Amino acid sequence: MRALCWHGKGDVRVDTVPDPKIEDPRDVIIKITSTCICGSDLHLYDGLVPTMESGDVLGHEPMGEVVEVGKDVRMLRKGDRVVVPFVIACGECWWCRRGEFSLCDRSNPNAEIARKMMGQSPAGLFGYSHMLGGFAGGQAEYMRVPYADVGPVKIPDGLPDEKVVFLSDIFPTGYMGAENAQIQGGDTVAIWGCGPVGLFTILSAWMLGAGRVVAIDAVPERLEMARQCKAETIDFQKQDVQETLMEMTKGRGPDSCIDAVGAEAHGDGGLAGVIDKAKAAVGMPADRTTVLHQAIMACRKGGTVSIPGVYVGFHDRIPMGPAMNKSLTLKMGQTHVQRYTKPLLEKIQKGEIDPGFVITHKLSLDEAPDAYKMFRDKQDGCVKVVLNP
Ligand SMILES: NC(=O)c1ccc[n+]([C@@H]2O[C@H](COP(=O)([O-])OP(=O)(O)OC[C@H]3O[C@@H](n4cnc5c(N)ncnc54)[C@H](O)[C@@H]3O)[C@@H](O)[C@H]2O)c1
Ligand SMILES: [Zn+2]
Ligand SMILES: [Zn+2]
Repeated sequence: MRALCWHGKGDVRVDTVPDPKIEDPRDVIIKITSTCICGSDLHLYDGLVPTMESGDVLGHEPMGEVVEVGKDVRMLRKGDRVVVPFVIACGECWWCRRGEFSLCDRSNPNAEIARKMMGQSPAGLFGYSHMLGGFAGGQAEYMRVPYADVGPVKIPDGLPDEKVVFLSDIFPTGYMGAENAQIQGGDTVAIWGCGPVGLFTILSAWMLGAGRVVAIDAVPERLEMARQCKAETIDFQKQDVQETLMEMTKGRGPDSCIDAVGAEAHGDGGLAGVIDKAKAAVGMPADRTTVLHQAIMACRKGGTVSIPGVYVGFHDRIPMGPAMNKSLTLKMGQTHVQRYTKPLLEKIQKGEIDPGFVITHKLSLDEAPDAYKMFRDKQDGCVKVVLNP
């Protein structure tokens, strides 16, 4: 089959690779109909994530048709249309039973590597390094789906791919990002990043009762989309974020601050920015904590900082003193996607939201290498790419 493979920093190619096979009786194989490029893929593309190997198949936001079914699978049949969560979860361990699917204790076959890096291993993820399982991803013609009775959500006929494919990741991620922000009715919520995740976070903040949403970015078309989602906006290249947020909240600070940017934040012109550039120049790309820093500093005393943005490494520049002394709550994590797929599918079916609004580019799998570059560099108004293999 054809699949988008990682070959190193900034080097992804469409290669011919072996077709996936059923490896466990609980697996299914799906034929991919739609699959997306995510901000999380950029961390792989930009060489930030350790334990990638040349030839790894990328992609973790797929949907498609079931074409092969393992003999122990109960819920799915050949021909079913499914969206597949990026998180792989067994559905039975202590964490899965608590609904904390991205912490599944059984789905990462390389748990030992993750344990060395993190103390304990989170769940396996599709197309996201060997440390997180070495699972082939979904930017491909076919994909093997382990624990097929737990993750995939069946899609009723009549709902087009564009409306439901984001149940695989970014809609649940925006929703959990807003839920983790502990929004009380009428609260002011500040959201850094108006990429696909940020935009779903804005809409979710409204669903959860925000009174005011302020969105921060510097890309004009993304700020415009945030305004269409009824957020007020701050351009971090033209305005001082801290000062503006303090003015907007009469000196109190936002009740909740959400970092929907993560490790590849731009715009730190200070000493930290110089250190980051120097590290990158000698081939040591590192997470940049600019946004996390701003979110902690701006958040009102006693407020909550939610971090859906992905970080990878260890940091010595996180303002723990301010966070501690202002009594902030910090909540974060890879999304427990399986917890949200059905309730959010219902919202789509009821017409409360049409997630397709973020799509700016629909391309073929062969165009994926150029699409990665366009998405990373925010060329051609690119906000979200959907590939149709
Ligand atoms: N927690 C999860 O399970 C999960 C799932 C999916 C994505 N993510 C993460 O969410 C983040 C966003 O994903 P995305 O697909 O929207 O990515 P994206 O790269 O399209 O969007 C990031 C946005 O942040 C903006 N930005 C950069 N620096 C900024 C700054 N200093 N202040 C404000 N905005 C700034 C960029 O201009 C861009 O619009 C990524 O880190 C991604 O890895 C997490
Ligand atoms: Zn994603
Ligand atoms: Zn589990």
